[in-house]
Amino acid sequence: MKNKIRVAELFAGVGGFRLGLEGWQGRSALSGYTKKLGNNGFEVVWSNQWEPSTKSQDASKVYEQRFGNEHHSNNDIATVAANHIPDHDMLVGGFPCQDYSVARTLSQSGGLQGKKGVLWWEIHRILKDKMAAGNPVSYVFLENVDRLLKSPVKKRGRDFAIILASLADLGYAVEWRVINAAEYGLPQRRRRTFILAFFKDTAIYKQLDHKQGDWIAEGGSWPRLFR
Ligand SMILES: C[S@@+](CC[C@H](N)C(=O)[O-])C[C@H]1O[C@@H](n2cnc3c(N)ncnc32)[C@H](O)[C@@H]1O
Repeated sequence: MKNKIRVAELFAGVGGFRLGLEGWQGRSALSGYTKKLGNNGFEVVWSNQWEPSTKSQDASKVYEQRFGNEHHSNNDIATVAANHIPDHDMLVGGFPCQDYSVARTLSQSGGLQGKKGVLWWEIHRILKDKMAAGNPVSYVFLENVDRLLKSPVKKRGRDFAIILASLADLGYAVEWRVINAAEYGLPQRRRRTFILAFFKDTAIYKQLDHKQGDWIAEGGSWPRLFR
């Protein structure tokens, strides 16, 4: 059996990414946990969840109750040094989105300069430090609200451009999609931006150089990476 992809789950909440990647008790999230997952290719080796606005840390407690606390951290990610995070192949996370969330009016949104938005730079820091230590993270898989593409209000698209450019500077090729949960059988119109980046030393990055135009039309990198 090929080695599993080691995953670090940031901003883990109650473990949505983990359920999607690992399934639950051997069953797949896509099937509503009714069908066997088969050969599961992912293993979460470390997770982090910390809620700044409350003392009680409910999400982290739920996470620990479900998945155990041995490899889980309940600290502000800004205080966690990259060398305290085990080496991993894929970093995932739905980084906090209050600044762009539709729950606020557009004029109140602060974009990446907003208080929580700057947490993007924690992801960037970890990727950079892992690379400097000689253990670059091969894949990055992130989720945010669709408004991320248009933030901030006065300079539409600047925040997303900064994210793309800073990933490119670190040596990643980046793809993104806006996916509506309603198109996947869920009873809500919830649009989310998914970002998938892969590092320049991965096989998929090298293939990308040769494919170019057909790449997106053929489904992008996700089916190639994880089929
Ligand atoms: C958009 S939610 C992600 C939800 C998650 N994907 C799930 O399945 O539940 C962002 C999460 O980041 C957490 N968070 C906010 N600031 C943080 C920080 N400084 N360090 C670590 N986690 C933080 C929030 O408590 C929240 O649970």
